Amino acid sequence: MSAHDVTRRSVLGGALGLGVAAGLGAVPITQAAASERAAGRPHPDRKVVLITGSSSGFGYLTALTLARAGHWVFASMRNTRTSNAAARRELLTVAGKEDLDLEVIDLDVRREQSVNQAVSRVLRRARRIDVLYNNAGTFSPAVLETLTIDDIKESFETNLFGHLRLNRAVLPAMREQREGLVVQMTTALGRFVLPFMGPYVGAKWALEAMTESSRYELSRFGVEFVIVEPGAYRTNFLEPNGQRYYDEYLRSLSRDNARRRSEYGELAERAEAHLALGRDSLDSHEIADAIASVVRAPRGERPLRLVGPGMEPFLDELNELTEGVARGAMTGRGWDDLLELDTGS
Ligand SMILES: NC(=O)c1ccc[n+]([C@@H]2O[C@H](COP(=O)([O-])OP(=O)(O)OC[C@H]3O[C@@H](n4cnc5c(N)ncnc54)[C@H](OP(=O)(O)O)[C@@H]3O)[C@@H](O)[C@H]2O)c1
Repeated sequence: MSAHDVTRRSVLGGALGLGVAAGLGAVPITQAAASERAAGRPHPDRKVVLITGSSSGFGYLTALTLARAGHWVFASMRNTRTSNAAARRELLTVAGKEDLDLEVIDLDVRREQSVNQAVSRVLRRARRIDVLYNNAGTFSPAVLETLTIDDIKESFETNLFGHLRLNRAVLPAMREQREGLVVQMTTALGRFVLPFMGPYVGAKWALEAMTESSRYELSRFGVEFVIVEPGAYRTNFLEPNGQRYYDEYLRSLSRDNARRRSEYGELAERAEAHLALGRDSLDSHEIADAIASVVRAPRGERPLRLVGPGMEPFLDELNELTEGVARGAMTGRGWDDLLELDTGS
């Protein structure tokens, strides 16, 4: 371990071994998950939590993990009466058996009316929203030139605008409460680029930027933003969901796009390799535990980013560099008051 690493790790001190002294910084996902497992349950301070995309994967597991930690969880998913009726039943059955405070509500992040109705419903029931976990996402690999602008908008509609829609719906309540936490799922690919997934990485890069922007803009209102940047985990993301979106893409290729695709030859086939990556991935409970640890962490001590695992050496350096530049530029403008959360104390 280098002296630089030692300094970093000591800066990441804080009550749960998670917080960062100056309000920014990054923490390894593995460390955050371990601190939650060691913390003991239930959580002393019950939060009202809204999660998007709870029908499978990280959303599903995090809903149960947070409810088991004693929080009041609104696990949202789209199509609760049709394609996700079984997922809804399954989640409610577990919640019923374990006597958890977990409700399933309908929410399609692509539809403004659905988002607004769901948020109003939570506010009517619980009178507040302490935590929003923006989780819903879709993936489909492709050579960028074979996608129309409408195809790219489709991906952005869920992977970028869906999250911004939720923020717009929830933030007025959080500002009024002068307290709130938005956990923003991006990906390690929100910080570097691989080919054959242009719309996905493009949306996630934009989400990284807008989330960091919101973190500064909302700090005075006591509202925190934390970005989660995982590597590959076993969920429904690639199989079956990604495979289904990819099959739809192949089926609906126009003649022009099919010609372009064939002109890329074997490169077009490489896109499909992304879909095979999920098979050897990590256990997704780690992400649910890491998010629970962020919820548990004291206000003002939550890191800007959770990274890894396996990505820390690269992402730590990159994140430190960009956060350092932002910190310097903001300090130069006299805006360093926005770098730390105003906790009102
Ligand atoms: N798994 C990984 O390796 C990995 C790595 C880095 C980041 N991530 C990110 O983690 C997040 C969750 O993905 P996951 O891995 O848990 O995959 P997943 O099992 O496929 O879960 C994705 C969830 O998003 C939901 N969703 C999609 N479109 C939606 C919409 N319009 N409205 C509401 N919900 C919608 C899906 O619901 P339906 O069932 O209705 O489609 C599903 O519940 C995504 O943002 C993804 O980018 C995943």
